[in-house]
Amino acid sequence: MSLAVSDAPRFTAPGAARIAEEVFGVRGTAEPLPSERDQNFLVRAEAGGRFVLKIANSGERKETLDFQNALIERLAERCPELRFPRVVQGIKKEGPFFLRMLTWVEGACMAAVSPHSDELLASLGRALGQIDRALEGFAHEAAHRTLHWDVRHACLSRQHLALLPDHRRRIVEARLDECARVDWRTLRHGIVHGDANDYNVLVDGGRVVSILDFGDAVHTATVCDLAIAVAYAMLGKRDPIAAARRVVEAYHAQYPLTEPEADSLFALAIARLCLSVCYSAYHAQTAPRNVYLGVTDAPAWSLLERLGEFPEDWPRDVFRRACGFAHGRTAAALLEARKEHLGPSLSLSYRKPLHITHGWRQRLFDAAGRGYLDCVNNVSHVGHCHPRVAEAAARQMRRLNTNTRYLHEDLVEYIERLTATLPPPLRVAYLVCSGSEANELALRLARAHTGRNDVIVIDTAYHGNTNALIDISPYKFNGPGGRGKPAHVHVVPMPDAYRRPACGPAEVRDAVGRASGVAAFFCESALSCAGQIILPPGYLREALAAVREAGGLCVADEVQTGFGRAGSHFWMFQTQGVVPDIVTMGKPIGNGHPMGAVITTPEIAASFANGMEYFNTFGGNPVSCAVGLAVLDVIRDEGLQENARETGAYLLAELKDLAGRHPMIGDVRGQGLFIGIEFVRDRETREPAAEEAAAIVEAAREHGILLSTDGPFHNVIKIKPPLVFSRADAGLLLGEISAHAADGTARRDRDRARDSRYPG
Ligand SMILES: Cc1ncc(COP(=O)(O)O)c(C=O)c1O
Repeated sequence: MSLAVSDAPRFTAPGAARIAEEVFGVRGTAEPLPSERDQNFLVRAEAGGRFVLKIANSGERKETLDFQNALIERLAERCPELRFPRVVQGIKKEGPFFLRMLTWVEGACMAAVSPHSDELLASLGRALGQIDRALEGFAHEAAHRTLHWDVRHACLSRQHLALLPDHRRRIVEARLDECARVDWRTLRHGIVHGDANDYNVLVDGGRVVSILDFGDAVHTATVCDLAIAVAYAMLGKRDPIAAARRVVEAYHAQYPLTEPEADSLFALAIARLCLSVCYSAYHAQTAPRNVYLGVTDAPAWSLLERLGEFPEDWPRDVFRRACGFAHGRTAAALLEARKEHLGPSLSLSYRKPLHITHGWRQRLFDAAGRGYLDCVNNVSHVGHCHPRVAEAAARQMRRLNTNTRYLHEDLVEYIERLTATLPPPLRVAYLVCSGSEANELALRLARAHTGRNDVIVIDTAYHGNTNALIDISPYKFNGPGGRGKPAHVHVVPMPDAYRRPACGPAEVRDAVGRASGVAAFFCESALSCAGQIILPPGYLREALAAVREAGGLCVADEVQTGFGRAGSHFWMFQTQGVVPDIVTMGKPIGNGHPMGAVITTPEIAASFANGMEYFNTFGGNPVSCAVGLAVLDVIRDEGLQENARETGAYLLAELKDLAGRHPMIGDVRGQGLFIGIEFVRDRETREPAAEEAAAIVEAAREHGILLSTDGPFHNVIKIKPPLVFSRADAGLLLGEISAHAADGTARRDRDRARDSRYPG
């Protein structure tokens, strides 16, 4: 049975004051408090003390109020750490309305406390855990009722779905369907408070001291109580799952959840928000003046609409970890084991390493319930865990995975589709398993075709992790632990328009002259490790001409830059109006599945076919081909190259605008969604601001945005997100960069002012 809001009593404040005095002997003033279907008044007694006069809905049964009083008394007795009201003189009556008077409980309403600290959220979980523990075994006839706010009866809210606009109705329907799949027989049942929403939670000294309003207490699945608290704790939070986790962890410590409870918790919490928005839509029609009914509407919709950003099973995984049901280890334990068993020449990102458990589109998600906007992982090109790619891999893995010595439809289709993205005569493919394998093979092809040995590379380039590739990667051989440049390698300076505007293809021509025989010029089509440098117009045309005149080949390393990232073109080298002799591919090619490819001309391929077979056990296997095809399909079907062009152009223009306002940003450059922001301490001297850039990366991580630095001075923040990166994401990123750049500029101005006051 549910009570109608329209049957709510309608006493005036003076009327309530009269009742307080005549019925309960408390003389004082009365002021109304919010309530859905009853009426509550705060009574300030003349003799001192505060009380709540509760006038029940005319449809309320006396047994229900008896039940509430018994519940309050039980909690007061069994939860000594919490505050509960005292019932003054039992249940009275005024006309058709039952009356009760309770003592006032001190504390601020949690809804009015901001922000909700971790400790506050934990104290909410603790308080509710204590309450539910105290209610274990508590029985009362009146608790067995059908309340429309009871999450167990979430399906009742379906009757109002038609009141919602289409896109919102679809969200709510899907979430109610999920709730309908909960197997209630696996959940413990008992009497619960039933309404730990933040308007009923009292806070004092930064922690929860009471949870009031027992009007929705009911016999239901016990976990519904926590689901309700979690639902409201998530509202208005940047990291709602992290906030929920705090509550769940603390609750579990007081009153352990079972595994089925932890598993159904998120679906139930979301169902509660669905109830809330459905009833709010209904009441907007029937009781438009009751503001209390719509208070959580906006934040509830905002969260419901954001749910699509979260991987499906991530919240459940976070809650399972919080309860110790997941098999995973803590971040600290992982770090320890890694230190012991993983080769130490591998660094971790960020001072406080991330423990990422899930990915979805342009976001990564950690074990503690935080989400991160991923601005750096160009491997997850079409979005983390794209369902079409995952499905293609899984389907093929179940059917067949062998080497390429058998005929296979997908292999042939894949190399046809892949080579079709390139201009002629680039028609012959070799499929490998990584960018390094691709470049290693490209080097062999070039040497086989030219019969020469020397290689020209651009300073700070990185082409891969094999012996031969470390030798042609100044980023490595000139870096820590490097042994310097081998004799067969010729390094040309970076054509960096910001720091070395005079550098150009003439330097490649000089290098050709120095070489004893050039096999190849290896060049990224835009320089990534070198600091997101866009080659000057005409650079590759002239450089290629010089190399080719000397009989050498040109290898375009598109490992970082390919597959539509350039926006205007599918391949970054196309922005230079050239056709290389060999193109190497990696990273985005398999959206995270280890793949690589080398595409070259029939002529070069023929030179390589000298009798020695090129065999690659895993390269081009059916699973990789299925994945590669799915990646190409998604890029086409989701218009990702176009998105790279539009979102990239928007982001670049806005960043340039920021650079105009913040002297700390020395240069902004990019092409499509391949962008670099170079930070300097001084615009005149261009002194690199490496520490400042690193500090921005660390701070952004704390704010849920993943960035990283690169370039010879480590002062360039590189932006190369999955291509599903949206304008809204660009907005978040711009806000973050802008805040730091403004801070940095202000700090620099302060320092300068101080230095000029105290010269020397
Ligand atoms: C430009 C470039 N080429 C080649 C490679 C090597 O690719 P992989 O790590 O897949 O072997 C990388 C890797 O970072 C790269 O950035």
